Amino acid sequence: MKITVIGTGYVGLTTAVSFAMRGHSVMGVDVDAAKVERLQRGQSPIYEPGLEPALQKAMEEGGLTFTANPAEAVARADALFLCVGTPEGQDGRADLGYLFKAVATLQELLPKEGGERLVVIKSTVPVGTSDQIAGMFAAYSNVHVVTNPEFLREGRALQDSLEPSRIVIGARDERAFALMEDVYADIDAPRIHTTRANAEMIKYASNAFLATRISFMNELARLCAAVGADIEVVARGMGLDSRIGPEFLRAGVGFGGSCFPKDIEALINLARATQTPLSLLEQVRAINRSQPAWFLDRMRNCLQTFAGKEIALLGLSFKPETDDIREAPSLVIVKRLLAEGAHVRAYDPVAVPHVVRLFPELTFVNTAYDALEGADAAILVTEWKECTQLDWLWVKVIMAGTFLFDGRNAWPAEHVKGLGFTYLGVGRS
Ligand code: NAD
Ligand code: UGA
Repeated sequence: MKITVIGTGYVGLTTAVSFAMRGHSVMGVDVDAAKVERLQRGQSPIYEPGLEPALQKAMEEGGLTFTANPAEAVARADALFLCVGTPEGQDGRADLGYLFKAVATLQELLPKEGGERLVVIKSTVPVGTSDQIAGMFAAYSNVHVVTNPEFLREGRALQDSLEPSRIVIGARDERAFALMEDVYADIDAPRIHTTRANAEMIKYASNAFLATRISFMNELARLCAAVGADIEVVARGMGLDSRIGPEFLRAGVGFGGSCFPKDIEALINLARATQTPLSLLEQVRAINRSQPAWFLDRMRNCLQTFAGKEIALLGLSFKPETDDIREAPSLVIVKRLLAEGAHVRAYDPVAVPHVVRLFPELTFVNTAYDALEGADAAILVTEWKECTQLDWLWVKVIMAGTFLFDGRNAWPAEHVKGLGFTYLGVGRS
């Protein structure tokens, strides 16, 4: 099929590459001309494992091109996938400005009759948005508006896109479902054919539930710390129950990223607007917001004060294997440490260029060991392997102090304690 992907960010670019790898003829279009130029040179604007080589291969084979010209991109397409951002708006609701702008462009460029076309909303949107967009195409006899939420995770986006856990298709008529099945014909994954509203809700509910698990574990971790239990052992014991499962039970300094925080916010807002508040989710948000401060307070208890302390901070991105720093817990932690007078030396394998702009006063270094050298204390914020697989004997030699604050429970607690470090994890007595 001829597919056009509108918006070539984390989701759009990955989707474009994966469609091209599966034999579709794909064009990506973006309003960011600089991004398009990079893409046309075969360079990925984002760090995502395996994406750039796959992008280059798909382009060489002729299945993938990029343009900044919407007319060119729209004219050719059997299916148009909307993958633009839906960030948190000022009032907490999803900001649908980019989406409606893209829809307006489609309205301008698409003919009202002739060959059939799919307009597919892949962006995460509040329940009711896709029906509203369908209404905007009511006069187009040939356009099917479909909701097809995306569930990929950053850091393994391409793999998730090629092997999705499920394909959720929200549409109104059988013809639209059939056309969408052509798009995904070669993918062996469970299907859900449903209404557009259900598809939209499945997406929000999935993110909200995963976030709930994390906040549950983070709050439980605080209790574990208070009563002398170890959240890691507790999580293992819980995860072996097949009804619970082992995923998303990792306590830490809180969840971040471009999606959980803003999607929770949007769902909370939608619920309040309809007088059916989601009080549990409001608590999930509150726990997450207070988690970095809870850990920082414990760190300060150990150090007495942050003022004048040399602190090595390892990991800046919101999770490993991505350069994305949107809503990263590191940003809250850095801000607080600097405000309280600490000298922070930060290391991250890929995210530094994004953080430099926000905290020019931070010292950035090239390796974890450079950060640790001479430090009074170290904090692990993101569990990159470059930050966890360390030569601890050497770390003991180069650090000035002995405090290790493990914000992801990813350092070998017993081993480092044996070497004479003072170890503080999340929810480990
Ligand atoms: P992003 O900010 O990385 O990318 C969005 C892109 O859209 C940008 O390149 C921007 O320039 C472009 N754009 C904006 N308006 C445009 C227009 N009118 N025409 C063409 N391009 C336009 O966003 P993202 O992280 O890829 O997220 C996109 C959507 O997918 C969001 O709704 C998000 O919630 C959802 N989602 C994201 C992820 C993820 O892991 N990032 C996973 C699942 C779902
Ligand atoms: C998440 C979902 O996992 C995807 O299915 C979804 O498509 C995506 O949001 C989205 O809608 O954008 P992502 O944000 O890439 O994906 O990352 P996750 O792996 O879910 O991690 C999110 C945050 O939770 C990270 O900060 C991570 O450190 C934290 N986390 C995750 C924990 O603190 N504990 C855990 O057990 C798991």
